[in-house]
Amino acid sequence: MINHNYEKLQGSYLFSETARRTAAFQQAHPDRNLIKLGIGDVTLPLAPAVTEAMHRAVDEMGRAETFHGYAPEQGYEFLRSVIAKHDYQDRGCDISADEIFVSDGAKCDCGNTQEMFSGDVHIAVCDPVYPVYLDTNVMAGRTGEYDGATGRYAGVTYMPCTLENGFVPQIPEKMPELVYLCFPNNPTGAAIRKEELQKWVDAANRSGSILLYDAAYEAYITEEGIPHTIYECDGAKTCAIEFRSFSKNAGFTGVRLGFTVVPKELKRDGASLRDMWFRRQGTKYNGTPYIVQKAGEAVYTPDGQKQIKEQVAYYMENAAVIREGLISCGYQACGGVNSPYIWMKTPSGMTSWEFFDYLLDHAGVIGTPGSGFGPSGEGYFRLTAFGSHESTKEAVERIRKM
Ligand code: MLT
Repeated sequence: MINHNYEKLQGSYLFSETARRTAAFQQAHPDRNLIKLGIGDVTLPLAPAVTEAMHRAVDEMGRAETFHGYAPEQGYEFLRSVIAKHDYQDRGCDISADEIFVSDGAKCDCGNTQEMFSGDVHIAVCDPVYPVYLDTNVMAGRTGEYDGATGRYAGVTYMPCTLENGFVPQIPEKMPELVYLCFPNNPTGAAIRKEELQKWVDAANRSGSILLYDAAYEAYITEEGIPHTIYECDGAKTCAIEFRSFSKNAGFTGVRLGFTVVPKELKRDGASLRDMWFRRQGTKYNGTPYIVQKAGEAVYTPDGQKQIKEQVAYYMENAAVIREGLISCGYQACGGVNSPYIWMKTPSGMTSWEFFDYLLDHAGVIGTPGSGFGPSGEGYFRLTAFGSHESTKEAVERIRKM
């Protein structure tokens, strides 16, 4: 009667597990002041341009003549058109408003889009990887059993991202039908250069694979030559779906807003993926709230842009403090240049979970164990730049003294 694929899942969702262990530690040591650099959740309040827009939208909802009921399933035109212009057309990418689907966040879309594909397609994921791509496919029965010895599910193509390959995976010799990519990467913080991403697009167009491209962290790109969207690559519209989020660029983790781009040119087996996704959203999703979409629109105003860029810069100062602080203490650390994540090697051969406990106990700092993101994450540890300046500096000082 039940979906037995759920029985294949390992333990609880990674961030639930770290939260559970943190809560247990805090209960046992109520006097310890813990610094949370684990889950990538923002800490700065929403930008004034955003909250002002939300207040205005709330007032509109309270008046009969400006009240809004169900939102359009694809999102309001006012938001989709500003996204299309600002995030795509202004970058020279020919993406139109009717290829954009507004949602309550990239996590849900990453999980839900796999419904458009048959149950027997093969998937490829980076290793380590944001757990949502893999776990949702496990739930859908696209994997075999989990092998505790290798830390892998049967039937999945794992693409190791290691120090040796600069945390950018190799293109598989045989491309599976669905390939998940995330750049700038969660958890390693690595970015991909445009010429490298172009190779993936070319490979997908040759094999007929679809790239599911998570660009949730694009606002953190600081270097030239790093693509902000996969549609900067030639031919991406015939092989790629892109996920975007307002969580990390504008602090909407608790507001919930994201969007997915499904180009009209993307077709398989004679079907338009854009039309399928439209049908799926129409059936299963009743639209993102008007107030939230108005908040999203405000992100693109001149004030909104200025304010959110200041927030991203604030977090990137933290990223530099963590990365440079760790390196100066003798740790191997990368990321934090085009991404809010710093990926460090655990010291003295400790496993990721051993280091989680060690850091919690000796420094009162919470991070995320690399092995929670996949077997190639073993021996690594992730810290986020989303804390305050004060707590970030304090965390690095505590690590220095460990
Ligand atoms: C993370 O810490 O990896 C993120 O917060 C997860 C997410 O955005 O869902």
